[in-house]
Amino acid sequence: MKDLRQRIEETVNYLRTGADVDSRPEIAIILGTGLSALGDKIEDKKAVAYGEIPNFPVSTVPGHKGELVFGKIAGRDVVVMEGRFHYYEGYSPQEITYPVRVMRALGAKFLIISNAAGGMNPYFNPGDLMIIEDHINLMGINPLIGPNDETLGPRFPDMCEPYDKALIAIAEQTALEQKIKVHKGVYVALTGPNLETRAEYRFLRTIGADAVGMSTVPEVIAGVHAGFRIFGISVITDKCLPDALKPVDFKEILETANRTEPVLTRLIYNMIPRIR
Ligand code: HPA
Repeated sequence: MKDLRQRIEETVNYLRTGADVDSRPEIAIILGTGLSALGDKIEDKKAVAYGEIPNFPVSTVPGHKGELVFGKIAGRDVVVMEGRFHYYEGYSPQEITYPVRVMRALGAKFLIISNAAGGMNPYFNPGDLMIIEDHINLMGINPLIGPNDETLGPRFPDMCEPYDKALIAIAEQTALEQKIKVHKGVYVALTGPNLETRAEYRFLRTIGADAVGMSTVPEVIAGVHAGFRIFGISVITDKCLPDALKPVDFKEILETANRTEPVLTRLIYNMIPRIR
């Protein structure tokens, strides 16, 4: 089996020569739930289907949108993952984070990630946005387990500031100017796919989390390891208060995420020109 570095080089070579991608992206974006409309704002688009890219995880979901898109947003060169991989779908932690490695190897320095999350902070309402200030990894997995290649990143990466303070400041300033309400808080990741029990929400709130979801943390861990400066944001889709919990249908979660999408898209679109 080839090592990670060789596989990344193979993938980059394919994109550069086989797929003829000449873009030098500065900003990598993972369009999670709530941000897919940002994809419509990409200019000079060049899309490569995941299925075509050597060493990329193979999508098992029929009709799943899976493309790596190169182009410009607000004048900046970007590479955008349209469609992400979740651990609960059966991918390994290394597979989920492989595209992060590739986007870094293509030259991107900044990583923007969005997700849909349940709100445990009682001040949060469905449709609110939460800038991720920090996270708690309760997935019981880690994409860095295994041999470490020091040329890709350190064996013991520091985690005192996985979410870049300067990018958070840009987001807050942009939100103020755009009159968009934003919270800041801690995101906790579990594997899913079930939502949590009341006892779990009570526990997660007690240990310091404001929002809960099933993604983002593996990509952020690999992103920190690879040297990305990272910005993460959650769309709060449902209220997860243990003493006032109502059943939620995943359809409602998706509806709330879709309803909030234009606001989140506007925030990120207006942040991009200021990212330095
Ligand atoms: N848990 C609870 N509510 C949610 C989640 C989750 O993982 N994601 C979106 N809403």
